[in-house]
Amino acid sequence: MKLKILVTAGDGIGPEVTNEAVAVLQEIATLGGHEFTFTEKRIGGIAITTDGAPLPQDTLDAALVSDAVLLGAVGGNEFNSLAPDKRPEAGLLAIRAALGGFANLRPAFAFKELAVNSPLRPEIIEGADILFVRELLGGAYFGKPREWNRQTGVAFNTMIYTRDEVARVARIAFKLAAARRKKVTSVDKANVLEVSQLWRAVVIEVAKEFPEVTLEHQYVDAMAMHLMNRPRDFDVVLTENLFGDILSDESGVITGSLGMLPSATIGGKVNLYEPIHGSAPDIAGKGLANPMGAILTAALILRHSAGLEREAEAIEQAARKVLEQGFRTADLVRGNTAGLTVLSTAEMGAKVRATVKEVLARA
Ligand code: IPM
Ligand code: MN
Repeated sequence: MKLKILVTAGDGIGPEVTNEAVAVLQEIATLGGHEFTFTEKRIGGIAITTDGAPLPQDTLDAALVSDAVLLGAVGGNEFNSLAPDKRPEAGLLAIRAALGGFANLRPAFAFKELAVNSPLRPEIIEGADILFVRELLGGAYFGKPREWNRQTGVAFNTMIYTRDEVARVARIAFKLAAARRKKVTSVDKANVLEVSQLWRAVVIEVAKEFPEVTLEHQYVDAMAMHLMNRPRDFDVVLTENLFGDILSDESGVITGSLGMLPSATIGGKVNLYEPIHGSAPDIAGKGLANPMGAILTAALILRHSAGLEREAEAIEQAARKVLEQGFRTADLVRGNTAGLTVLSTAEMGAKVRATVKEVLARA
């Protein structure tokens, strides 16, 4: 199997965590005789500083000829006063748009060992396993017109969807649900917004193609509460862009740390893979960052871009085993460290790699 991976590590902890993800992929390539090649390019704040733009042409060109893009994180406090279209985040939005992936898959699952880190009671989160399917190229993020008029003191964005944009992401959600627990929860604000009424109508249409999958609708405000009260009731959660952004962060609470969660964006020319966590500038460069989100993102590359399901599962199993054995990065430790071993970013990466090797040897 040959795979050309573009690595855009970005800012803050991005380089540290993507290093570990790449190392796991290299290990998988060596073990299985695969040919994975890695190219590195700049994106985000580092690109603004070095190249004067958050998504240099050179990075975009390299992304478009790769089989998969692995992104670390973008953003930094020094860019906070810039306009939205000049910020590091603009580079991320631009590469998302250019690659064309419209379905952002964001799993939120509970790790038994991390239940102590969640403010939710263990019996609420135990066994929770949600897959968010977040529409990634529409809604208020990209809708026009958009403006902040400083003269008039008026600002607006446009939350806009076409029928086709809703249908294509809904279809992906139903397909994924059909292979899971066969339930789709579609999130909207159809009691207030026309754009949500369209969303709901189209989702109902698409659902007819998947009679084996149950569809329910929730308003986004109620959903925010249900996710904390009864996360186990949800399987695939289908949302528009902004609602999905908010609810997927909220669901980090179920896992105990956002640092554990991966994501994959599919449906476009080139799939884009990024951990859900941000650039965490406060801990950057200190070896404190949790590489698990990035490593589990590497597993998604194997699953969705390489067809290496066995290897993807080996990484996921290894991540669980390492936690079972009491290994943690600092973000996963709350106070009591009895029975736990706190590892640096690189040590955690090495531990997962060694465990992946064991898991694959046994299988
Ligand atoms: C995310 C992030 C991004 C988003 C930012 C960094 C633009 O919050 O991936 O969830 O809002 O989509
Ligand atoms: Mn977000």
